Amino acid sequence: MRIRKAVFPVAGLGTRFLPATKASAKEMLPVVDKPLVQYAVKEAIAAGADEMIFITSHTKNSIMDHFDRDYELESVLEAKGKEELLKSVRDVLPPGISCVFIRQPEQLGLGQAISCALPAVGDQDFAVILADDLISGAFQPCMAQMQRVYQEYGTSVLAVQRVPWEETHKYGIVEVEEIRPGLSEIRGIVEKPDPDKAPSNLAVVGRYILTPRIFRLIEKTKPGAGGEIQLTDAIEALMGEQTVLAYEFEGTRYDCGSKFGYLKANVEMGLQHPDIGEEFRGYLKQLTSEWTESDDPKATGS
Ligand code: G1P
Repeated sequence: MRIRKAVFPVAGLGTRFLPATKASAKEMLPVVDKPLVQYAVKEAIAAGADEMIFITSHTKNSIMDHFDRDYELESVLEAKGKEELLKSVRDVLPPGISCVFIRQPEQLGLGQAISCALPAVGDQDFAVILADDLISGAFQPCMAQMQRVYQEYGTSVLAVQRVPWEETHKYGIVEVEEIRPGLSEIRGIVEKPDPDKAPSNLAVVGRYILTPRIFRLIEKTKPGAGGEIQLTDAIEALMGEQTVLAYEFEGTRYDCGSKFGYLKANVEMGLQHPDIGEEFRGYLKQLTSEWTESDDPKATGS
C-alpha cells in the first residue's frame, strides 16, 4: 500500500513576495539552486509517488516548463561536456514520473484548489504538499515519514508541529488525543484561530495524506476563515466519519511563504550545499565576527 499521487496546489498569487512574484511563480523562487516546487516534487517521489498533479493558474506556466524536457538545453550541455549540469537538468523529473496540470479557474481557497484534483486522483488516497513549507534535515523526508504512518494505519495523516502560541492565527490548529509519542488522533481542527481560541499550539504544516472522501466533503464546505473554502473545514467533517491522524514529523520546516523563513532556508541549505557550503560558512563566520553592537550592518546601509 503506497500513495502514488501527489497534489501540489500552486495557483496562489504569492503577494508576500511582490514585486518578485509579479510575473513569476512564487513556487519557482530558488532555495540555493533549486526552485521550491522541485524540493516538493522530490519529497513526493522519495515517498513513492509517481504521479505529480499540479493545481495551477495562468501565471504559472514556468512550473510546467520546469518539469518538461528541454532538449535544446540538454544538447548544448552535452556538446559542451557539462555532465554534472546535464544530470541536474535531467534529474528534475526522473524517468517513470508523470505530471498532470490542472487549471484552478478561480482562487477560492486551499479546499477548492484540492477539489480541482478530483479528475486526476479519482478514488485513491493521495498526498498534498504545499511547496511553501520546505522541510529538510531529517533521517527521512517528511512525506516518507508520513507514508510509514499511513502504511501502518491506512488512514488520513496530517503533519503537525508545535508553534509559538502567538502564531496560531497563521495555521490550522488541532486538538489531539495521543496514540504514542509523536502520533495522535485528531479530535478537533480549526483554521487560523486567535491564541485565546486555539485548542492547542499544534499546527498543521503543508503535508497531508487524505482519503478521496475529502472531495465530497469539500463540495459541501461553505466559505470559512478569510471567506475561503478551507481544506481544514473539510478535514473537520472527515474526522466525523474516519480517523484522521496528526504526525509530529522530524526535520526542520522553513516557512518559505514568508521572507524571513525563505532567507533562513537559503542560509541553512546554503551551509549544507556540497559545492558552496564550506566557502559560505567561512563567509558567514567572517561577516558575523565583523558585527559588533557598535557596528550594526544596518547603519552601514548594506
Ligand atoms: C494553509 C492551511 C493551514 C496550514 C498552512 C500550513 O494555510 O490552510 O491550515 O496550517 O497552510 O502552511 P496558508 O499558509 O495557505 O494560509
